[in-house]
Amino acid sequence: MSGAKVHREPVERDPVQREPVEREHWNSRAGFVLATIGCAAGLGNIWRFSYVAGENGGAAFLLIYVACIAVLGVPLMLGEFCIGRRAQADAVSSFGSVTRHSAWGVAGWLMVAASCVLLSYYAVIAGWAYKYFAGYLSGVITDTAGGKFADYFNAFVADPFEPVLWQLVVVVSTEVVVVAGVQRGIERFNKILMPLLGATVIVLAGYGLSLDGASKGLTFLFRPDWAALADPAVYFAALGQAFFTLGIGADALLTYGSYAPKGEKLAPAAITVAAGDTLFAVIAGVAIFPAVFAFGLDPAQGPMLAFVTLPEIFSVMPGGWLFANAFFVLLGLAALTSAVSLLEVSCAVLMSRLQWSRRKSAIVMGCVVFAAGVPSALGFGLLAGIQFSGLGILESIDRIASGIVLPIGGLLIALFVGWAWSRTDAIDAAGLPDGSLASAWLFLLRYVSPCLIALIFLWLLFG
Ligand code: PHE
Repeated sequence: MSGAKVHREPVERDPVQREPVEREHWNSRAGFVLATIGCAAGLGNIWRFSYVAGENGGAAFLLIYVACIAVLGVPLMLGEFCIGRRAQADAVSSFGSVTRHSAWGVAGWLMVAASCVLLSYYAVIAGWAYKYFAGYLSGVITDTAGGKFADYFNAFVADPFEPVLWQLVVVVSTEVVVVAGVQRGIERFNKILMPLLGATVIVLAGYGLSLDGASKGLTFLFRPDWAALADPAVYFAALGQAFFTLGIGADALLTYGSYAPKGEKLAPAAITVAAGDTLFAVIAGVAIFPAVFAFGLDPAQGPMLAFVTLPEIFSVMPGGWLFANAFFVLLGLAALTSAVSLLEVSCAVLMSRLQWSRRKSAIVMGCVVFAAGVPSALGFGLLAGIQFSGLGILESIDRIASGIVLPIGGLLIALFVGWAWSRTDAIDAAGLPDGSLASAWLFLLRYVSPCLIALIFLWLLFG
């Protein structure tokens, strides 16, 4: 259907039924789960997890983060899947079509906007991964060994041209996958990549563990400093990270859920994706933190952590050059699979609401998010002067998008499934038997998620 000329006759559109007749679907259950793991697992697990954990005290953060995944993440992910699967429609229509209150459409739009903002700076960081891959392949990075990795990174991100170029490469490659479609593009791509990425991270973690001083890193990651639990900022960071890493609140899970066939069991899929994603982040932490301590680096150095620490490991490990290539190509590709899910959100909306082709939707949205991301790409060089309470452009947008906008999206999902739908509707949409499991899920959505999200916001504001 990609390049097909679309008939532009004024079609009578019932506000509830905006979808073209042949909605695409996943080819298999494994395809759905792997594509969703592809959406979840990305820069969030390696780049973002390591630096946010590093800045927020390690183990105390990890503890709250895992609690957020279990108590908020899994129920909300299932809720988001349900909204899409029940409506079998794009994000905006999905919210509009299942209740009579059209105000819910605004929730859909808010999350579509979130997906675009996220993608704008996500593509910048994915571009860093692409650049590192190119740098290793050509040998440029290996030649700068000897403790100069921080200088290398700083020089690269401060360049007025290069980060934008790599950001563009990411946007174009994302468009290519989206244009290829759900089965031929997104599903096939993820099926091959995700297992490969998992294997590479496990090998790197094994190597991290073998380093002298590894135990310091493990202590940092797994032995909580209980005093840190009194700091609201740690909860705020953990909440934002949990939403970001699972991809909740940006309509991406909703859109992927809408391609799931009617009989698909959504609850086991949500648990598998959340567990896989969390495991991935923890293993990445085991690869990174021992090295941080072994090389005397600062765990709280911010967004550059993975781009400085891992090259240190690669420079001393046997076969390091090969691993460096494997790692950065896979990191770039894992980022790509997440970027694809973010671009698919707005494309699905344009395709069904404006009857645009896949190709046109992907190209137009790609241009929009590219332009929106340029300030983030230049925020470490030309625009480094622009700071908001000490944070640069990219970090400021990231903090607002993941710490505030995604949790608000999650709150709306909880309210929609928990309150706007009847109990029967919700349980039916999830395909759960009407028993204690379903009641627990609805209890978490109706009461626990809204209260916890509100509490963390209030604590941060007034705490
Ligand atoms: N979960 C992705 C990651 O960890 C990012 C993402 C956020 C993807 C929101 C989709 C929606 O890298």
